[in-house]
Amino acid sequence: MLKTERLLLRPFALADAPRVQLLAGDPRIADTTMAIPHPYLDGMAEEWISQHDALWRDRDHAVWAICTRDATLVGAINIAANLRDGRAWLGYWIGHAYWNNGYCSEAGRAVMEFGYGYLGLHRIFAEHLLRNPASGRVMKNLGMRQEGILRGHVKKNGVHEDLVSWGRLRTD
Ligand SMILES: CC(C)(COP(=O)(O)OP(=O)(O)OC[C@H]1O[C@@H](n2cnc3c(N)ncnc32)[C@H](O)[C@@H]1OP(=O)(O)O)[C@@H](O)C(=O)NCCC(=O)NCCS
Repeated sequence: MLKTERLLLRPFALADAPRVQLLAGDPRIADTTMAIPHPYLDGMAEEWISQHDALWRDRDHAVWAICTRDATLVGAINIAANLRDGRAWLGYWIGHAYWNNGYCSEAGRAVMEFGYGYLGLHRIFAEHLLRNPASGRVMKNLGMRQEGILRGHVKKNGVHEDLVSWGRLRTD
């Protein structure tokens, strides 16, 4: 459990599945993420949530539900670490109704602290589609530096797209 000024980051529970399906099922979430399906069918959220415990068992992949202090679930954030190399990839989404409140940046700061502190990471990195500048703003807010643009790196709905790569070292 991680706490920030306005947010509580907690593990997902199976009871969150309908809310996840509602928020992540919005096509605007799948549009700029790599792993979120669309349509987001019944059962998919339950399947995703039921994997989380096993992912955390090796201390290398953690997923949090981002909740406001009134316990409203507004999004998700995760890190997938390669502990041998001391690095982790950061990913996130926020339900559309809650965009531009600073929630993702606030949750991201707490997860970065967890990564450098509890996990002892050396580097945390993230990537976004070139056409998703809001995610780039979040990465900048997290103190990451833009490290490059990988041209045509991903194929999204049949279209080759550029990916912008960001990273921050513990020592930055
Ligand atoms: C990207 C996303 C997680 C941001 O969540 P959020 O809670 O709105 O983020 P924040 O409020 O902390 O920050 C958003 C920043 O983007 C900026 N922004 C918003 N729309 C923008 C746009 N069209 N162009 C440029 N910047 C934009 C905001 O001004 C803010 O920047 P600031 O802090 O410098 O003012 C959210 O838009 C989302 O879930 N998108 C769909 C899923 C996704 O793309 N996930 C990330 C995959 S890499």
